[in-house]
Amino acid sequence: MNLILLGGPGAGKGTQAKKLIDKFQIPQISTGDILRAAVKEGTEMGRKAKEFMDAGKLVPDEVVIGIIKDRLAQPDCKKGFILDGFPRTVPQAEALDKVLMGLGNKIDHVVSIDVDEEALVTRLTGRRTCKNAACGQMFHIKFTPSKKEGVCDKCGTELYQRDDDNEATVRNRLATYNQATAPLIGYYTAKGLVRPIAGVGSIDDIFNKIVGIVSGGHSCACGR
Ligand code: AP5
Ligand code: MG
Repeated sequence: MNLILLGGPGAGKGTQAKKLIDKFQIPQISTGDILRAAVKEGTEMGRKAKEFMDAGKLVPDEVVIGIIKDRLAQPDCKKGFILDGFPRTVPQAEALDKVLMGLGNKIDHVVSIDVDEEALVTRLTGRRTCKNAACGQMFHIKFTPSKKEGVCDKCGTELYQRDDDNEATVRNRLATYNQATAPLIGYYTAKGLVRPIAGVGSIDDIFNKIVGIVSGGHSCACGR
């Protein structure tokens, strides 16, 4: 099962990917998480990427394509993978097609998670994320608060607010999504791969919809 989770910033890609890992035992590949790890380590790539991330802009295609090429060649991707936050531009999608062709592999489903923009701003400005990169669980101060304030339920590590989760940067990220990433819906629709779902409602209901799609169940655009 090779899956792309597509959706604006805060649509729930990471939240759903974490549940899909548990169910299907396949890796989540989040370019955002990989870039944040590089920022934290202070690598040259991380230093360059941070400027783009803090501005709500995309990191240059060649950087993220290189990351994905290396990651997809790892043995744990053989039984399937969940791409979260990649591709984000048509050139990235074209590069992904080439990489997968070289590996004798292909994308099976593109789940496009739809949430309106004001709801995305509310979600992101209230998000708290586990500092432990191996966990990375997301919470929301109102919708999904941790049991103990500021502490991850899963691993007990401190929670933090991402540098790009302030309202000004969130609005720039939304504009970037509309301009650069939304065209991917057309790209993958032309390939017959897009499965649109409404991304509002309980996290479990949305998860069940995705499981239905990847298991070959109901998959029309009605949001059920
Ligand atoms: P990235 O880390 O990919 O961020 P993003 O796409 O902006 O998405 P988010 O991680 O913010 O949101 P999400 O959809 O994962 O939502 P989540 O599940 O956390 O990228 C960050 C930056 O890195 C980019 O801006 C760019 O600079 C760079 N980058 C990354 N990939 C790149 C690429 N391919 N090319 C170029 N640059 C790249 O949920 C959000 C909140 O909502 C949480 O608080 C959660 O608890 C809550 N929530 C989730 N589901 C629900 C629900 N159903 N109801 C209520 N609340 C919910
Ligand atoms: Mg995410």
